[in-house]
Amino acid sequence: MKRIAVFTSGGDSPGMNACIRAVVRTAVYHGIEVYGIMRGYKGMIKGEIVKLDSASVSNTVQKGGTLLKSARSQTFMTKEGRQQAFDQLSNHKIDGLVAIGGNGTFTGAMLFEQEFGIPTVGAPGTIDNDLYGTDYTIGYDTAVNTALEAIDKIRDTADSHDRCFFIEVMGRDSGYIAIPCAIGGGAEIVMIPETQMSTEAVIDTLRTGWKRSKTSFIVIVAEGDEENNATTVAAKVKEAIPELDTRVTIIGHVQRGGSPTAADRLLGSQIGIAAVEGLMNGMHNVMAGIVDRKLVYTPFHETIYKKKLINQSFMRMVEILSV
Ligand code: F6P
Repeated sequence: MKRIAVFTSGGDSPGMNACIRAVVRTAVYHGIEVYGIMRGYKGMIKGEIVKLDSASVSNTVQKGGTLLKSARSQTFMTKEGRQQAFDQLSNHKIDGLVAIGGNGTFTGAMLFEQEFGIPTVGAPGTIDNDLYGTDYTIGYDTAVNTALEAIDKIRDTADSHDRCFFIEVMGRDSGYIAIPCAIGGGAEIVMIPETQMSTEAVIDTLRTGWKRSKTSFIVIVAEGDEENNATTVAAKVKEAIPELDTRVTIIGHVQRGGSPTAADRLLGSQIGIAAVEGLMNGMHNVMAGIVDRKLVYTPFHETIYKKKLINQSFMRMVEILSV
């Protein structure tokens, strides 16, 4: 392996820069030339490929976002798009790729490697923590802490005004962000796509609390269930318990930004090194991850199609702690 390229694709996540930095410095350490592809697959197709060295990634480990920028590309979903991307990589004599991103990124990477044979190792970069093959994804810890900070502040005003807040957090189709937010934020209820709690059950729990003279409530709603989002659930609750003063807060993209936590800097660095050394050792079509504190490489088709299950004991914790 003489020349590799690294890119970030899909939603950005805090810690991606730590990962890019580790990829670049590991390559330099082993005497491999390294390039950065700007704007994910979009930039790959256009040939936005720049040479990187150790100094290119100085003063980046603590920064949020991604210095390589990110994008979602429709053109890469077509055979012609992937052909153009391959031509650009061939022009630069790239013989290995590190793809930092989530499910969509790895779906593209798997297809691309099958068609054109450039060995690719993935790094799990998404706030959603929804990837099979790693206990945590890069950016998840920061996103949860950012959301918790917001929830703590909402709690102050919820308590002052005796209100019930429905707080929507990100996570795409998964409740991984919602669960620690509910436990750490002292929520009464958590609604996640995996368990599909009914609005009736939410109403029952709030009514019971209200009768017991509880005056303020926090309900964490994961964004994944479109029918039962924070706004629709809050409206149904208001109709059923009119005396409850309800409010909705959607935390939104603030969860994607900010300086990465120590855990995300460490994970990003660990995975970045593992991705390059994996490529050097002949790994390809796999994602590097950490499971039970050990480095593992999981085939892309497993990370994409296997569901990472939510530990049911966390749901029980929310129930016990909100009694
Ligand atoms: O995958 C990360 C994520 O932030 C999800 O939690 C969310 O559903 C989605 O990306 C939002 O995407 P966009 O930034 O394109 O609106």
